[in-house]
Amino acid sequence: MAEIGHEVLGIDVDPDKIAALRAGRVPFYEPGLEELLAKHVATGRLRFTTSYEEVAEFGEVHFSCVGTPQSPGGNAADLRHVDAVIENLAPLLAGRNALVVGKSTVPVGTAERLAAMLPEGTELAWNPEFLREGFAVEDTLRPDRLVFGVRSTAAEARLRAVYAPVISNGTPVVVTDFPTAELVKTSANAFLATKISFINAMAEVCEATGADVTLLAEALSHDTRIGGRFLRAGVGFGGGCLPKDIRAFMARAGELGVDQALTFLREVDHINMRRRSRVVDLAREAAGGSFLGRRIAVLGAAFKPDSDDIRDSPALNVAAQIQLQGGNVSVYDPKAMDNARKSFPTLAYATSAENTLGQADVVLHLTEWQEFRDLDPAVLRDMVARPYIIDGRNALDAERWRAAGWTYRALGRP
Ligand code: UGA
Repeated sequence: MAEIGHEVLGIDVDPDKIAALRAGRVPFYEPGLEELLAKHVATGRLRFTTSYEEVAEFGEVHFSCVGTPQSPGGNAADLRHVDAVIENLAPLLAGRNALVVGKSTVPVGTAERLAAMLPEGTELAWNPEFLREGFAVEDTLRPDRLVFGVRSTAAEARLRAVYAPVISNGTPVVVTDFPTAELVKTSANAFLATKISFINAMAEVCEATGADVTLLAEALSHDTRIGGRFLRAGVGFGGGCLPKDIRAFMARAGELGVDQALTFLREVDHINMRRRSRVVDLAREAAGGSFLGRRIAVLGAAFKPDSDDIRDSPALNVAAQIQLQGGNVSVYDPKAMDNARKSFPTLAYATSAENTLGQADVVLHLTEWQEFRDLDPAVLRDMVARPYIIDGRNALDAERWRAAGWTYRALGRP
């Protein structure tokens, strides 16, 4: 928002995060974001506070961008942060003619409930966020589309004014009611998850037949009705969005009495989780039938490359499963080590890809960082006990690894 010309005051309840942001430090890894933060802390267009009074006084438009994690012990979305924002802000907005804009991924029906909590004269709009981690800056400044869930032309006009520089770049705007805006987001993530599980289901069939899922996906991708994106077969999807969003969507459909419409998402979830078990099975087979006394090197901890996010990370889930089965596991990730250590303190961590590989019996490639693609298999060959690699992301150059003397196995490929 500062980059497209606005004066911005950011609020968080965590004083440590606010202190870091004020000092120009982003409290997580996201390419390009720290530069942008430093730029606008310097221009003075971007400031931070922990005071709701200050933001209520300051803002004409208030974006609520908090998370909606999976509920502890359930599948529904945990709305406590979303509710807390409105509960704290609403009493301070009376008489201010403010617009509150929700960005969070919420169960359909939430916006209507929140709107009723706002004072007279304050409007709500729902403007779901579609950015991908690792591409957050790019996706924010040049989004595929903007969705404005509004109840008045005045709210639409205010959102159009806020996003004017983005819209003038040709970004399409779809104006909807509240439930449609909420559903666009949930259904987009459900579709993306389905696409990944579709290709992973094909990978299962490929494994039973000797076919190659990467060539299959390539051939499918030339059909423009299908398209090639999100057809990368591997260990499956993780992160703080797709897994919990499909579960929350099913939970909400149940409440609405339309659970049958979304039973296919249960299968999408199951296919996804089966891929993790498949990697564990392949690794056990490679280790000679048991992990006991075996050293397993895991390349990757983040749920995807260019992120330090480890929420529902397939890599760490596989590492933890192997450790539970008696394997001696060592993990390395270029950016996610601190987060991984906090959540999985019993795993062993190495300081580099090379160090994690030392004397390994089996190497697992589970997050496709460029750093891992750049590894030289000929050099690594001499560091391991047995040159055996399982590429859980179909991202390494199979021929190069084989030529260097490795046994290379991948999901969905002979
Ligand atoms: C996802 C959506 O892509 C965003 O549009 C959305 O805004 C975001 O969730 C959100 O709801 O906030 P993100 O979770 O950052 O974004 O990551 P993705 O790029 O979607 O990847 C999700 C997972 O799927 C990763 O674990 C990735 O490795 C995996 N994946 C992705 C595959 O296994 N195969 C693919 O072909 C693509």
